[in-house]
Amino acid sequence: MITPTVQLVRPAPSNKRKRTHHVAERMFEKSMDDFAAEVRDLLKVSLEPRQLLEMSEKLEVEYREKLKSSAISMLPSYLHTLPTGREIGDFLALDVGGSTFRIALIRLGERDDGRDGLRLRRVRSFLIDKSIRDLKGRAFFDWMAERIGEMLTEYNHINGTTDARLRMGLAWSFPVDQTSPRSGRLLAMGKGFCATYGVEGQDLSELIMHSCRARQLNVEMMAIVNDGAATLLSQAYRDPSTCMSLILGTGTNAAAFLPYTTLGPGKFGDRPDSWHAAAKHVLVNSEVSMFGRHVFPRTRWDDELNSKHVLPDFQPLEYMVTGRYLGEIARLILVEAVSTAGLFDGEMPARLNEPYALDTSLLAAFQNDISRSMSKASAAFLDAHPLPSPPRISELHFIRELAQLISRRAATYLATALHALWRLRTAAEGLQPGEASHVTIACNGTIVEKYPDFRACCQRQLDELCELSGAAKGAVTLAMAPESSLFGAAVAVACIGDES
Ligand code: GLC
Repeated sequence: MITPTVQLVRPAPSNKRKRTHHVAERMFEKSMDDFAAEVRDLLKVSLEPRQLLEMSEKLEVEYREKLKSSAISMLPSYLHTLPTGREIGDFLALDVGGSTFRIALIRLGERDDGRDGLRLRRVRSFLIDKSIRDLKGRAFFDWMAERIGEMLTEYNHINGTTDARLRMGLAWSFPVDQTSPRSGRLLAMGKGFCATYGVEGQDLSELIMHSCRARQLNVEMMAIVNDGAATLLSQAYRDPSTCMSLILGTGTNAAAFLPYTTLGPGKFGDRPDSWHAAAKHVLVNSEVSMFGRHVFPRTRWDDELNSKHVLPDFQPLEYMVTGRYLGEIARLILVEAVSTAGLFDGEMPARLNEPYALDTSLLAAFQNDISRSMSKASAAFLDAHPLPSPPRISELHFIRELAQLISRRAATYLATALHALWRLRTAAEGLQPGEASHVTIACNGTIVEKYPDFRACCQRQLDELCELSGAAKGAVTLAMAPESSLFGAAVAVACIGDES
């Protein structure tokens, strides 16, 4: 057996760094330069357009398989038409996200001043912290109902009415197996939630309504949609070229309006014949986060994150691209850099050793700070992870480059996943890429909205891939869809109401 020889390296001397206390001089396995080069190689591997195209092809094969048979991904909703933009009414919209529960009164159809007809009349937001994520089974739904009760008390007070029965729509940021337009079976939830304990497989609508009835809340659940589908619906209300969506925040997902025949007959469960007769297309929740396990190359840090995760391999794409994980990937790399390559002279910053302690917003702060001194980024780092002496400029540059590499990889892999879905849809419509009409992908989520350069980078990669596969320039546009979960939940009620 050949034992690798490890060369020990001293950290680069620096006269700029003022030590406030004595650090014993230590030896490390490699230099920071070598470590940085390795990180660059590993995170950049296969970001070449041709390789991405191959990955996209493999993903398309996976999508097709799951469209024919899978109980947890490529889930068809009951919606077989998209909104016309002429739907009207008042609705109570619920949005259960990864870190907030929002409740809003939405009015559709008010088009004064040439605006788009989607009105957010009142909204309340409740933080979902660990104590809420830990609530098991009915306790979680009771918590939701209590918050709805608070909202209604305030609303009735404001409006002076107490007897209006409100039609409710729910945007659910988790998979759901739809059993009717207004209900669905609760499936395993990621993002650290415990709500499915003891109630997995039960009717989500009934769980919520049971808790609401116990509090005599005058509401009725009319529609449940995944947040990806809600995002598509809200933007389609404004712009008829919308037929796909992307969510990228705590979690990730994509939805698409696909021809009915793309799905296997077994995917529809028990639906009335009249539904099948009317459906030419179906709004499908792809649960794209679950794809790509054997497609996207993983680094040792991705493997580490995955193996320590409560649900290893459950959402391989999600673990590489979302707000919940970008910071964690960076943290694992930084921890290794400290101990093997002498980053910060081998001194571990406070809390950096704790899982998930590095917030993705810190990576954004590094990418945003393009100044020479990087003083803002440095202050943000020290605030979250104090060190006895400030990082060197070269160390700050390393962290900024790391943030760029991690976020660029995420944007590129997402673009690849979207490209595969776009190609599948185009072929299912019987079109060549060059013939397809312009497609708008409705986007929502903090990362795609706020992370520096993320959406632009994803758009560039998508353009390149679409053109490589024969599409005209600008065939696909990523468009931000503000408040899409809340609006989409209301639009879903209006669309379903129109049909039933
Ligand atoms: C997760 C969920 C999915 C949701 C997405 C975005 O990946 O599995 O249902 O749409 O996050 O919130």
